[in-house]
Amino acid sequence: MFFGHIILKYTSSELQEIGEIMVNSVNIKIIDNIALLSVNNSPVNALSFAVREGIMSALDDIESDKTILCVVINGEGRTFPAGADIKEFGSTPKAPHLPTICDRIENFKKPVISAMHGTALGGGCEIALASHFRVAVEDARIGLPEVHLGLCPGAGGTQRLPRLIGPTEALKIMTSGNLLDSKKAISLGLIDELILNVKEGAVSFAKQIIEDNVEIIRTCDKTKKISNTPYNVSSLAQVKDSVIKTAKGLIAPEKIAECVEKTINTSFEEGQKFEAATFAQLKDTDQSKGLIHAFFAERQSGKIPEVNRGSPRDIKTLGIIGGGTMGSGITVAALNAGLEVTMIERDSENLERGRKNVEKFYYRDVEKGRITELQKETILNRYKTSTEFSSLGKVDMVIEAVFEELDVKKQVFKELDKFIKPGAVLASNTSYLDIDQIAAVTKRPEDVIGLHFFSPANVMKLLEIVVPKSVSDDVVATGFSLAKIMRKVPVRAGICDGFIGNRILNNYADVAAFMMEDGASPYEIDAAVRNFGYPMGPHQMFDLAGGDILWSTRKRQEPLRDPNSRYVRIADRLCENGWFGQKTGRGFYRYDTGERRGAVDPEVLEIIAVERKKKAIKPRIFSSEEIIRRYMAAMINEAANVVYEGIALRPSDVDVTKLYGYGFPRYRGGPMKYADTYGLDKLLNDLKAFESEDPLFWKPSPLITKLVKEGNNFESLNI
Ligand code: 3HC
Ligand code: NAI
Repeated sequence: MFFGHIILKYTSSELQEIGEIMVNSVNIKIIDNIALLSVNNSPVNALSFAVREGIMSALDDIESDKTILCVVINGEGRTFPAGADIKEFGSTPKAPHLPTICDRIENFKKPVISAMHGTALGGGCEIALASHFRVAVEDARIGLPEVHLGLCPGAGGTQRLPRLIGPTEALKIMTSGNLLDSKKAISLGLIDELILNVKEGAVSFAKQIIEDNVEIIRTCDKTKKISNTPYNVSSLAQVKDSVIKTAKGLIAPEKIAECVEKTINTSFEEGQKFEAATFAQLKDTDQSKGLIHAFFAERQSGKIPEVNRGSPRDIKTLGIIGGGTMGSGITVAALNAGLEVTMIERDSENLERGRKNVEKFYYRDVEKGRITELQKETILNRYKTSTEFSSLGKVDMVIEAVFEELDVKKQVFKELDKFIKPGAVLASNTSYLDIDQIAAVTKRPEDVIGLHFFSPANVMKLLEIVVPKSVSDDVVATGFSLAKIMRKVPVRAGICDGFIGNRILNNYADVAAFMMEDGASPYEIDAAVRNFGYPMGPHQMFDLAGGDILWSTRKRQEPLRDPNSRYVRIADRLCENGWFGQKTGRGFYRYDTGERRGAVDPEVLEIIAVERKKKAIKPRIFSSEEIIRRYMAAMINEAANVVYEGIALRPSDVDVTKLYGYGFPRYRGGPMKYADTYGLDKLLNDLKAFESEDPLFWKPSPLITKLVKEGNNFESLNI
């Protein structure tokens, strides 16, 4: 029961409960003369068809009941509605539509108050904007993040938000998709009052509204902030300009700006019509479909059999072996997540270097004003260093990040086995090596797992969780729970050379090398890949990661390489000159000219020409379109093999890997989503055409052949 003085008003139907009436997915409680209408659609109260119907029929009932003087809309459970039901976007929308509901609320003759807690987002926020009053608890977050799905707000948000807070602020909020906390929202005029408790607070607010007989002013009638003044016009134009400049190929931000412009140069009704047309147009774009795919793929990757079967172990303390690039990055990520870390290095000199590698992050954060001196000290109090494995006796988990050499790693795991407490998890951060072999040197292979972080580990969100054959379900579940603690996006990967991400990377790195040898310059390839939407091209990425690391992987793989396979020596030649990329000032690019992205290096072009000559290759011209066709075909073909062999559980896991670890443009959804959009039959034709040049490299994946034969796509495997 609610406050103890509930008056039951509704008698309708079989759904009646004591003290509560259910109208589809909406609960109604009548408190004195106030109707509390609570959306009840766990987990985020998305505004599905059932909820929309529920709100409409509840409003009909409330309208005809003369004893009810005011309506409060809120959400049951953890949140106010967090938006339209994105799952429904793939099918034909069913009435009542969200804009109709918002209009109905705005034109309601009794005051409507939205009481927000949790995350009032998208369509949820638009219901609030259409309400006559808005209240929120302090930790509520409010926003219109549709832009992250390649959309504009579609239920009046682009027209109502500017009327409440002014067009430029509204444009910034909608094009960034950033959420506002309640305090910011109240300062902008987006909400009217902060409340302590969402239901009681809203009911008290409603009583006050009734008592004071406060006049209803519809949001659509609030025109003061959107008048067509030179200030509004010019500041809007300025923000629009910068939005377009930073859109990185996304269509939605500019479209949102066009909708907001309507608020100052046309009527509310015209603006609404324009918004509806823009929303429909954006919803139909590949960009929006790619972004929506990415949203669900990211949430799907955590759903794996071991997590269902296992129970995660408690992780509070970590041992990190190695204080180099990865060891120090993982340490910072763990400290930032509140864990205690002990770092081990092989000698005191390297330990000192490792310690500084970590500390410098926090000194910089203090310098930049991101944290206080006291916060830095508190964090670093959780950080210890040692050269003795014996100091790890009490840790809950160890993550090894020493050199990428199997024998070195085996030796480390043998030592760890002696000192680490029973039940602790032993993880390796190896990029390529066989974790089954590493696990086999311990007496507890069931506790050994791969946790493949990406560089810089304190920034990159991807965590490949590599599952060796003897590992227990609990340990795999622990890997996934650690990812949550460290705010990483986890993807389950099976054992093979390079797991999901690096194995696929090797294939498209090869095709980039083939194109380079056949006539495309590294700079042309990089430009084509950037135009496709990547933040950098592959050669810029190699220069950043370090040519020496890739070189040592190629050397390690040499004995395993099929003697009939094509091998391009250009990158090796650069490494033989000591040109390892940014860290040595030279790689595929020169870094001593002050150019941000590095400068074209004529000497690199000469080396390429010499290598072509050695193989008697007559260089030919590659268009950008051909570069991408080959690059993507190589990437997707190997990705299909990775799924076919069960290394990735589903195509969408490959998408998540490439989106979060390798810079694949999010608005394309990932390589597998891109392949479905491109057409698998068309892709198979490309592969077959390239196969005649090099049958070994371009052999179509059996999975692609099978799917094309069945008339299916990768999406059909995303379960
Ligand atoms: N529609 C359908 N399902 C949704 C959803 C939505 N809008 N938002 C979240 N979900 C689902 C998730 O897929 C997940 O399902 P699962 O448990 O089966 O994997 C579940 O709800 C919980 O979501 P999270 O794991 O993301 O939970 P968090 O607590 O981490 O985050 C959240 C909650 C901040 C609300 C986050 O889910 C989110 O950002 N959701 C999307 C919000 C959004 O984009 N809203 C705008 C939608 S478009 C719109 O409203 C158009 C309108 O203008 C017409
Ligand atoms: P690094 O060379 O920067 O650091 C390795 C550190 O391990 C050195 O500081 C070294 O002193 C220390 N070390 C070596 N043997 C040790 C021992 N027996 N005991 C204690 N410390 C020891 O190497 P990096 O780049 O950090 O790589 C580490 C691991 O992470 C490798 O397996 C690598 O493949 C993997 N990795 C690297 C990525 C990268 O981009 N650098 C990305 C993801 C994984």
